[in-house]
Amino acid sequence: MIKAQAQPNIALVKYWGKRHRSSNLPAVGSLSVTLESLWTQTEIEFDPDLPEDLFLLNGIPDPASLVRVSRCLDPIRQRASCTHRARIQTHNNFPTSAGLASSASGFAALVTAATTALGLKVTAEEKSEWARGASGSAPRSLYGGFVELRLHETPAPGRTELVPLAPPDHWPLEVVVAITSLSAKPVGSTAGMDRTAETSPFYDRWIEAQPADLDEARSAVQARDFEKLALVSEHSCLKMHGLALAAKPGLIYWNGTTVTCLTVIRDLRARGIPVFFTVDAGPQVKAICEPGAIRQVAGVMRQIPGVLEVMTSRLGPGARVISGAQAPLMFPS
Ligand code: PMV
Repeated sequence: MIKAQAQPNIALVKYWGKRHRSSNLPAVGSLSVTLESLWTQTEIEFDPDLPEDLFLLNGIPDPASLVRVSRCLDPIRQRASCTHRARIQTHNNFPTSAGLASSASGFAALVTAATTALGLKVTAEEKSEWARGASGSAPRSLYGGFVELRLHETPAPGRTELVPLAPPDHWPLEVVVAITSLSAKPVGSTAGMDRTAETSPFYDRWIEAQPADLDEARSAVQARDFEKLALVSEHSCLKMHGLALAAKPGLIYWNGTTVTCLTVIRDLRARGIPVFFTVDAGPQVKAICEPGAIRQVAGVMRQIPGVLEVMTSRLGPGARVISGAQAPLMFPS
């Protein structure tokens, strides 16, 4: 039995759209920060007596997610020449499927636990590919701090490369997460991306402009230039939601409180408080702050009517095994 932990990551330059549906290849690169205090912990045990995979989420069997979990495990099993089914137990300390990147931390933890449990010596690239096959944002949670998932056009079109840009202590930004709804999102990100790619009139321009946004964000991170990172991150977020809003029928991931949070964060920044926002495919708002501003930002966010809960986090490490790593290896690599 191996237990691994991974934290969600928050994209500052968003990925939205898939180039290949079958391989889940993203249409664009992306850049994110990995959090510290929100986590997924996943325990896995391969069992020769188990007739099929068993998946429990927060202690409850979750047959709806089981297919995706088994599909993620299959190539890992194949690589280890293992045919055993697995018992998988996952716990999240934050709401699942509500725009808080639970699939990213979930699949990063699953790949980390499974490869260790099977005794596989694998490269970071292999792990990244297995995580990406399940969720386009999951590879980024394999690393801590600032992470880029690059999409190569040449020499190998359609290959991704996971690049750890800087560790958390390079620039110890902090994140306030404002929960504005606990309902699962009405349209999942894969369906939302497909609809956007097929029907949004802005989709082609989004793809073209992504490399410039990535260059801008990467150089802002390297130079610890907060204003530059704020501008490109808010731009990427609003652009992604703009595309989705323009799909047919339009995808509205926000609620009224989401919009209020965005205007409040903009007001804070106009008053000199170093904070900017980003929002993923859901109504929750993430406020990214310079170290030192978090108490004030969290205090203000808590007062916004409709904000149900506020969580705070520093930037954290990547996915790792937290117990059972000394267990005997069942399958030599
Ligand atoms: O990882 P997926 O396939 O659930 O998609 C995530 C998409 C966004 O969170 C909206 C953006 C991103 O890059 O994380």
